[in-house]
Amino acid sequence: MSTLVIKDLHVEIEGKEILKGVNLTINTNEVHAIMGPNGTGKSTLASAVMGHPKYEVTQGSIMLDGEDVLEMEVDERARAGLFLAMQYPSEISGVTNADFMRSSINARREEGEEISLMKFIRELDSKMEVLDMDQEMAQRYLNEGFSGGEKKRNEILQMMMIKPKIAVLDEIDSGLDIDALKVVSEGINQMRGEEFGCLIITHYQRLLNYITPDHVHVMMQGRVVKSGGKELAQKLEAEGYDWIKAELGIEDETVGQA
Ligand SMILES: Nc1ncnc2c1ncn2[C@@H]1O[C@H](COP(=O)(O)OP(=O)(O)O)[C@@H](O)[C@H]1O
Ligand SMILES: [Mg+2]
Repeated sequence: MSTLVIKDLHVEIEGKEILKGVNLTINTNEVHAIMGPNGTGKSTLASAVMGHPKYEVTQGSIMLDGEDVLEMEVDERARAGLFLAMQYPSEISGVTNADFMRSSINARREEGEEISLMKFIRELDSKMEVLDMDQEMAQRYLNEGFSGGEKKRNEILQMMMIKPKIAVLDEIDSGLDIDALKVVSEGINQMRGEEFGCLIITHYQRLLNYITPDHVHVMMQGRVVKSGGKELAQKLEAEGYDWIKAELGIEDETVGQA
């Protein structure tokens, strides 16, 4: 079992405090969802976990199985078993999708234990079939010219191939039509199990109709302000966020404003 523990996390971007004490524990075998209005720091949390240099951690800790994640470089975090599907995946020219995935898999293995080309291709084919992706996508440069929906499927393909311990999926559902949403959900559901934990960041409850979360958290003003089970997501869908704001005495959901 693996555990990611985020404690009292404070993060600044260019001197402005965005996260103001986030606490969250994610174990393998668990699916967590974070919901919340725009601009409350959800993507900032994802970027801070993965070590984006623009996001400065000023207080708190992030530990993976007792190891200090904040001490690790970005590539070390990936090797340690963390994975981030970004809200806006970037295009990387000159690196094919397949090469990227193969080297990411091998980076997490000991020398001499690398995945064989045959095994890699077989696995890639089967995962691409689950995600209903065109075979030629594997040979294209990473995300270059991919449509919004293709990028999202591709993030999930990478996750399925790399098999991280803990994945953070930022708005993986945005811009997906209903069929794409179903295949992406199918991919995530296939990963569920003893070796895999996941944090799904979403603005809408829609995705959670296909992936039943074990825990749902609401983020507002740079903090996790409420946690519950899957029924919390349904209540948010039906009633919005106003009742939470009223409960907590929050008037404005934007963060970082005086
Ligand atoms: N790179 C950045 N530079 C400056 N401000 C940023 C940057 N990224 C995010 N912010 C600000 O941080 C706040 C939280 O953003 P974000 O984490 O993207 O919110 P969410 O994902 O919940 O919509 C917003 O006020 C946003 O404008
Ligand atoms: Mg975001």
